[in-house]
Amino acid sequence: MDLIIKGGRIVTAEGSYKGDIGIEKGKIKAIADKLPQNSGKTVDARGMVVFPGAIDVHVHLQLPFCGTVSADDFENGTKAAACGGVTTVIDFAIQKKGDTIKKAVDNRRAEADGKVAIDYALHAVPTDWNERTKNELMKLADEGYTSFKMFMIYAKEGMISDDDALFAALEETSRFGGMVGVHAESVRVLDLLIDRYHNPQDMKKYGAYCHVLSRPNYIEAEAIQRAVKWAESTGGKLYVVHMSTADGADIIRDAKRRGLHVYAETCPQYLLLDDSVFKKPNGYLYGTCPQVKKKADSDRLWRALADGDVSVVSTDTCTFDKKQKAMWQGDFTKIPFGLPGVETLLPLVFTFGVGKKRISETQLVKLLCTNPAKLMGMYPEKGTIAVGSDADLVVFNPNKKVTLSYKNLQTNCDWSPYEGFKLKGYPDTTISRGEIVASKGKFVGKVGHGRFVKRHIGMKL
Ligand code: URP
Ligand code: ZN
Ligand code: ZN
Repeated sequence: MDLIIKGGRIVTAEGSYKGDIGIEKGKIKAIADKLPQNSGKTVDARGMVVFPGAIDVHVHLQLPFCGTVSADDFENGTKAAACGGVTTVIDFAIQKKGDTIKKAVDNRRAEADGKVAIDYALHAVPTDWNERTKNELMKLADEGYTSFKMFMIYAKEGMISDDDALFAALEETSRFGGMVGVHAESVRVLDLLIDRYHNPQDMKKYGAYCHVLSRPNYIEAEAIQRAVKWAESTGGKLYVVHMSTADGADIIRDAKRRGLHVYAETCPQYLLLDDSVFKKPNGYLYGTCPQVKKKADSDRLWRALADGDVSVVSTDTCTFDKKQKAMWQGDFTKIPFGLPGVETLLPLVFTFGVGKKRISETQLVKLLCTNPAKLMGMYPEKGTIAVGSDADLVVFNPNKKVTLSYKNLQTNCDWSPYEGFKLKGYPDTTISRGEIVASKGKFVGKVGHGRFVKRHIGMKL
């Protein structure tokens, strides 16, 4: 064996047990009560929990957005991921009008390949719907891009997909099992409300809170409801990204009860923050789409995670530092939208989910590892601890106390939405395909170690 993880408590989606994990050529070769010592390396995992490496299915590294580019590039963003116990990320390749989607994925591959420190994959993002685009989807799926993300907003940014495109994409993907992800917000009414608050008096009075006032819960709920209807009508598989509302959780639960293949993710910001952050003097820093909502929404989302109605926790990492955020200059429509997050995903969900008894350890593994791998077509290579799977693992110290500060994180962000949060539980060692890539929160791997993951068709949960 090249590496043995000794004496940890192994946690999978099925349960937990004590054992050793033997790794050879990047794969899990053996799991047993005790494996004999050999000449390879050993990681002492006594007193630790061993999780499958977390999979963050929603990151935007070096994304040109809101007049700037997100501050964590493929190199640093994947280093940060490794430090936080994430061993695979899925980013996005966004079609430019007039180009093929294939061109977008090739460009994104050229930006990421050789730079990434852990494995990565890409969702393909159609923005220019026509016959050629439609005909690309199945070919892209054959090349490992088996999920397609569509923005129901961002008209001015040229990224919006209207209902006809969404409907047709669901119809097309239902032919081969692909999945359509949606950023679900109701664009016409949203733009009307943004215009309503976009005036000097309201912006002076409410500041960054205008972002909240212009996005009531029904903006998300109506769009989710509509997308679910199109999924039901076409038989397509739908995945609602960064769901932020209690209303959304109710709609997804009802759709699931009707037997639809409709799934949703939420993110730590919707579980741990509430919209009072926008009243802080630096409230604009928290600007993200959709914005964080009320405590009742967080409580409902935690329940949906425990019940399995929401299947995944991702981060929607889109890092902007203070200087970039300062571009807003008092205008809530000019905030570079997005938050850092990939590095703190696992410790936050462990502390505030498992630690607060909102979810079990096995549920955490389902939400951060197994469900993402199954839905996104990477299971059982990733998302579990089993003989033959990739040796993507986190040796996690459940007793390690950490006070979160951006100063101790790998991200290029010079602030954190979770600054000062008290954590109990932090990754000790992150292993990506058998290589130790992070130790005690510091990156110790190699840039370029990560590979593109050619995904297969995802499973239904
Ligand atoms: O505000 C956000 N979330 N920025 C990234 C783009 C998106 O909508 O996911
Ligand atoms: Zn979005
Ligand atoms: Zn996003």
